[in-house]
Amino acid sequence: MVDGLFYFLIWVSVFFFALISGILTYSSIKYRRKSPDQPAASNVTHNTTLEVVWTLIPTNIVFVVFAWGWKGSLEQSVAPANALQYRITAQQWNWSIYHPGSFSPSAEMWVPVNTPVKITMDSKDVLHAFFVPAFRVKRDVLPGRYQIVWFEATKIGTYDLFCAEYCGQDHSRMLSKVHVVSQEDYDAMPWDEHPDDPIEWGRVLYRVRCFSCHSDDGSPRIGPTFKGVWGSQEEVTDENGQTITVTVDRDYVRESLYEPQKKIVKGFETAKVGLMTTFSRAEIPDEPEGECELDAIIEFLKSLNN
Ligand code: CUA
Repeated sequence: MVDGLFYFLIWVSVFFFALISGILTYSSIKYRRKSPDQPAASNVTHNTTLEVVWTLIPTNIVFVVFAWGWKGSLEQSVAPANALQYRITAQQWNWSIYHPGSFSPSAEMWVPVNTPVKITMDSKDVLHAFFVPAFRVKRDVLPGRYQIVWFEATKIGTYDLFCAEYCGQDHSRMLSKVHVVSQEDYDAMPWDEHPDDPIEWGRVLYRVRCFSCHSDDGSPRIGPTFKGVWGSQEEVTDENGQTITVTVDRDYVRESLYEPQKKIVKGFETAKVGLMTTFSRAEIPDEPEGECELDAIIEFLKSLNN
């Protein structure tokens, strides 16, 4: 329906552009003044029939566009009652996607083919916009308000999910994927899988959770790089504004995830102004020790020291 209306608008515009500029060009050549003293051939100022016609035709076209768009808009805003229910939380600069019945977020989305999917969205900070061009759906995501979007994917494949609202420095990195899979593959809950190797698992989590603010190659972003940081001594500003030295160990990493404002690395104080992401223990669990997401991230940090 989106494509139909879009191409209708394009072709109506092309038709009238060609018609009007064609008549204009033809008349300017055919009826041009051929010598400087040639008198005007006519002094007609208006033609009621013509004016009524060129008012009624566009008015009718506009009503067609209105009715067509109105119908599409209604269909896009009311999800079918049997739709699968997803939750998405947007924040600078990633998507937390909660699959039906799942309490831990994933960075990418899996949906079964030929099944309506309804997503309830909100934002932790600023305006974002959920945009999957292949599905022709786009909806602003706002802090303090739930926004609904729905779609039914009809072709198995992987599609891009963009943030379509400029939301700050790393807006352009706020990307994800929607995997459309068969019902069988969907039932295997692919979003719950993670690599067996803790370093690889940590790398996946890093890509999802940390990458937008912390590089793994030594270059500073919003926050300090992760390269070589594990086990190092860092000067930090504590919550009383005192400068102290900490060792980057499990406790410090843990605290920086759940209470990032407590000890801020020197030189990155500006990140305090609304930029630092606070994670919950549901998002990055810290137990069981040695087998949880926190420890996978730490194994990844250790691997960056080599
Ligand atoms: Cu989020 Cu742009």
